[in-house]
Amino acid sequence: MNILAIESSCDETAAAVVRDGRQVLSNEVLSQADMHAIYGGVVPEIASRNHIKVISRLAEEAVKKAGLARSDLDAIAVTAAPGLIGALLVGVNFAKGAALALGIPLIPVHHVRGHIAANFIAFPELEPPFVCLAISGGNTAIVDVRDYTDMSILGSTHDDAAGECFDKAARVLGLPYPGGLPLQNLAEGGDDSAFRLPHAKIDGHPFDMSFSGLKTAVVNIVHTAEQRGEELDRAGLAASFQRAVSDALVPRTMDAARELGYDTVVVAGGVAANKRIRADFEAACERDGLRLFVPPLKLCGDNAAMIGCQGYYEYMSGARAGQELNAYATMDIDRLTF
Ligand code: KG4
Repeated sequence: MNILAIESSCDETAAAVVRDGRQVLSNEVLSQADMHAIYGGVVPEIASRNHIKVISRLAEEAVKKAGLARSDLDAIAVTAAPGLIGALLVGVNFAKGAALALGIPLIPVHHVRGHIAANFIAFPELEPPFVCLAISGGNTAIVDVRDYTDMSILGSTHDDAAGECFDKAARVLGLPYPGGLPLQNLAEGGDDSAFRLPHAKIDGHPFDMSFSGLKTAVVNIVHTAEQRGEELDRAGLAASFQRAVSDALVPRTMDAARELGYDTVVVAGGVAANKRIRADFEAACERDGLRLFVPPLKLCGDNAAMIGCQGYYEYMSGARAGQELNAYATMDIDRLTF
């Protein structure tokens, strides 16, 4: 089964063709990051307008690079939630038009379910159940993945997503957007105990997280140093920040795996690219004798192959959408209401 998948939930326009869930025939991604960098973050209006400019060409390209004709496509999968509403609508409307024109089924896909599915592409042997830490620019959640389309959230952030926190900490340190990778680079060689940073716990919710206090602490340290005219140990602050984020994520995910009795831990989303978080997970899983799966870097960030993969499993479990399909800025991963 050949699925053309479309992803436009934030600032990447992406189209891919995926066969039978896990075989990626093409995977086209066009990032707008440079267009948003001067603003220090994604400008929704600019994102939507640029998705419109490139989406048709990108989808054609994906079909061509897959070595297929339009008539070889069996279904269209599209990210319909969560994300920037205007940006999502571009992908959803393109997908509706394509499904109508080709007379093939339309499958709505939850973006974070897609991030989790990136691991199915990278690791043919991986099957549910497992616990997954989904960490991206807009989402941070520990997910109990019982089956391909049966999952529930064990814990999530009460405020900023992990990626958002990286981007904001990077910004106050004068680093470009998106800030995750530049902050990681700055942290290389920095002392991760140079600064004591807050580690929030949420009473009664052991798997929930909060990153706003950490973000504010970094902002205050930078501003105080500026006001006093003191030189700041920027590498030490970046390293201490990464350690604080990792300490908030890794032990909670390991606790969740233990509580569920699973032997497999999966990490997904743009922040899964982070070296410190990857290393801490490797050490923790080795210590506890659990299997660890983290996608290669090119499958961590937003892409459409992951949407095609998850779209296949959604299709197999009966998911279909009609021409009335809408996009949704927010939607729970465990209660799809397309
Ligand atoms: O998954 P993604 O491409 O988009 C969303 O679905 O949100 O994630 C983007 C996020 C950004 O916040 C970016 O700064 C972060 O992933 N990121 C990283 C790294 N590479 C990307 N964060 C930490 N370390 C990295 N190496």
